[in-house]
Amino acid sequence: MSNVHELGFLKDKIQELKDQGVYRKLPILSSPDDAEIILNGKKVINLSSNNYLGFANNPRIKKASIAMVEKYGAGSGAVRTIVGNMDIHEELEKVLAEFKREERAFVYQSGFNCNAGTIQAVTEKGDLIISDELNHASIIDGSRLSKADRAIFKHSDMDSLEDVLKEKRKNYRNVLIITDGVFSMDGDIAKLPDIVDLAEKYECMTYVDDAHGSGVLGENGRGTVDHFHLHGRVDFSIGTLSKAIGCIGGYVAGSETMYEWLIHRARPVLFSTSLTPASVGAITEAIKMLMESSEYTDKLWDNARYFKEKLSKLGFNTGHSETPITPVIIGEEAKAMEFSRKLLENGVFVSAIVFPTVPRGTGRVRCMVTAAHTKEQLDEACRIFEKVGKEMNILQ
Ligand SMILES: Cc1ncc(COP(=O)(O)O)c(C=O)c1O
Repeated sequence: MSNVHELGFLKDKIQELKDQGVYRKLPILSSPDDAEIILNGKKVINLSSNNYLGFANNPRIKKASIAMVEKYGAGSGAVRTIVGNMDIHEELEKVLAEFKREERAFVYQSGFNCNAGTIQAVTEKGDLIISDELNHASIIDGSRLSKADRAIFKHSDMDSLEDVLKEKRKNYRNVLIITDGVFSMDGDIAKLPDIVDLAEKYECMTYVDDAHGSGVLGENGRGTVDHFHLHGRVDFSIGTLSKAIGCIGGYVAGSETMYEWLIHRARPVLFSTSLTPASVGAITEAIKMLMESSEYTDKLWDNARYFKEKLSKLGFNTGHSETPITPVIIGEEAKAMEFSRKLLENGVFVSAIVFPTVPRGTGRVRCMVTAAHTKEQLDEACRIFEKVGKEMNILQ
């Protein structure tokens, strides 16, 4: 008789992953996340992290974080509704609301939690969620947790969105249209003005997940809503504190009513301990730094333009990115993975992204340029791209 504790059914599935060539080992970082890192024991240029502004290892932010640990300790000790709501959590939400130019902000322990908690809390049976087909996994999971029905529109295709609205709007009470602000695999920006126009025409609410837009787009990184001057017309404006802000956490910015409701119904906040003082200290300082100066976002965009231009001059296909996310499209899945492996051997870490994360035949490496990179590091990365590109006949 087989032993149930051997988890044989999982072993079989793991073997399937190996057979399909998609079994992975986690890379190990033994340095801070920065422009250069020690990965699996080797120093390499890092073009893979979401640390857009270099805040993850910023001295001023680290100092603020350490100060909070000294004053408030290592943990908050409880969920916010019991005794885990410190004055510093309240202060952080005030600073975030000011930054996002909204009445209120409500903080979660991660961006994933924010989508999982908010979508579920603001929709119910009899409602409809309409989602862009390329929206992030946490939006998909958040929508699955809701009792509302779901519909999909083709990526950034406004005719497709209107078709869904024409066919379905009348059958539902509330309708929530959800889009990423910046799409993380291609770096394209949502057609938010058109989405908001359609939402208003059909009396729907709008929800923007700006994980890759906050800290990047808009005035001093205020995000996609600010970039398009749509304040007051987007009901739920989500950001993460783990990417450009360099720490951990997520938030939704919007109205006072939204805030009041979420305090009562956002399950990840009701049933999970609040952010640590160290995180709150780091995040609050980071947001204040962004509001003080455009220095960080300016550097990010300057580096992104520089790197993109160099790569396209070399002859690489950088897709239709409009943001610092720079895909280099290779095509065949195995070739994209091989390209990433060879780049790493030569000193640059850029992860390969293949089917099913992106459509089959559009395998790529995805470069994340940050404000922390020096021009010398970007030049060196381009030199390695050119060398490996030629060796692999990706470049002529
Ligand atoms: C669009 C989008 N939403 C949400 C998340 C989740 O954010 P976090 O890492 O803060 O949980 C991500 C991160 O990959 C993302 O890209």
